[in-house]
Amino acid sequence: MNLNQENEVVGFLLKISNVVGLSAVAVILMLGIVMFLELTGTKVRLPTLTDTSTPSTTPAVPPQPAEAMWQAPNLASLPATPEGDQIRYGREMVAHTAKYLGPEGSVLQIANGMNCQNCHLDAGTKPFGNNYSLVASTYPKFRARSGTEEDVVKRVTDCFERSLNGQAPKPDSKEMRAMVAYINWVGTGVTTNESPKGAGLVEIAFLDRAASSVLGKAIYAQKCQVCHGDNGQGMKSSGNPEYIYPPLWGDDSYNDGAGLYRVSTFARYVKANMPLGATHDSPLLTDEEAWDLAAYVNSMPRPKKDISRDWPDISKKPIDHPFGPYADGFSEAQHKYGPYQLIIEARKK
Ligand code: HEC
Ligand code: HEC
Repeated sequence: MNLNQENEVVGFLLKISNVVGLSAVAVILMLGIVMFLELTGTKVRLPTLTDTSTPSTTPAVPPQPAEAMWQAPNLASLPATPEGDQIRYGREMVAHTAKYLGPEGSVLQIANGMNCQNCHLDAGTKPFGNNYSLVASTYPKFRARSGTEEDVVKRVTDCFERSLNGQAPKPDSKEMRAMVAYINWVGTGVTTNESPKGAGLVEIAFLDRAASSVLGKAIYAQKCQVCHGDNGQGMKSSGNPEYIYPPLWGDDSYNDGAGLYRVSTFARYVKANMPLGATHDSPLLTDEEAWDLAAYVNSMPRPKKDISRDWPDISKKPIDHPFGPYADGFSEAQHKYGPYQLIIEARKK
């Protein structure tokens, strides 16, 4: 290749990256407009994402009653004190984890490059966006996965070791203490035994068939690939330690011990949050699409976690826990993908 040809190639690549950059700007602008309209109460849909979709086979969830939705406390209400600073630093850690703790992290290099916020949307404050509303009021609590009483530090450590496929900062480190302070602050005002509307993830109905990775693959190509990539690898821009679009499988994604690796948890997460811009009352996926996408993404390769010490009481495994042994006679495949009705029936006996 001579210099001219090389320049042409470079020029062409630059053009492509410009286009990619521009489309990213366009998407961000569009989302900005959508969020503004949402805030001002106008109902909108993302045209480019929905109009290419095939007609749904199941109806979208009916609109929810206008009962008050949980809202996180206002960040602006935080005082200019050391406590306020700690909570702000914790929020920064949750929102931009990779910048501080990812492979190119400025504090430690202990996690896979994802941000907590990739899965706990708006730093864990979005209704049905896997938020932290219930943490302050329910921890420490007994969790059957570990068979022990867990505090918030232990729960955060779990997400570092599984969802971020790495290690957690030490319990007494500035970073861990700040994250715990922030997460507890998000749940301020939620009292024990109360589960406010919008907490955690939406519930969705089980299918009466197994979730299908074959159907999911086609939906992925249509509705997810544009951002998350043709190989689930997500998208980064050079020089930025954080993903623009986080990975869904492969070496840099969550491992098989993570919460999202459960098909039902993944389905409930995407139903109210994906494609980006979806909300619980303006979903962009049917329940079936959410289940089939969960089956597809969770059938692709990802890092492994030694979970041999999870679920010391195997009868407490969630029905869609994908690894045996089980207290019933159903296969790993049926536990992972469903159909779940017979498993549920068997448990009632
Ligand atoms: C790949 C997605 C993903 C990432 C990244 C992630 N989490 Fe999680 N997290 C989950 C899921 C899924 C759950 C469990 C939700 C459920 O089962 O209802 C969870 C649960 C939690 C809980 C318990 C919530 C509750 O109400 O009991 C805390 C606290 C938490 N995560 C903190 C973090 C922190 C801090 C980070 C970043 C260090 C993080 N997570 C990163 C997916 C993720
Ligand atoms: C317009 C771009 C876009 C589209 C289309 C899109 N996503 Fe996402 N997705 C994102 C972004 C951005 C995040 C991280 C959100 C954040 O950090 O605030 C994300 C996060 C996620 C996560 C949690 C983080 C992770 O990497 O595991 C999952 C799971 C996910 N998306 C699945 C899907 C699925 C399934 C579809 C198709 C139905 C989809 N997304 C379509 C942009 C998109």
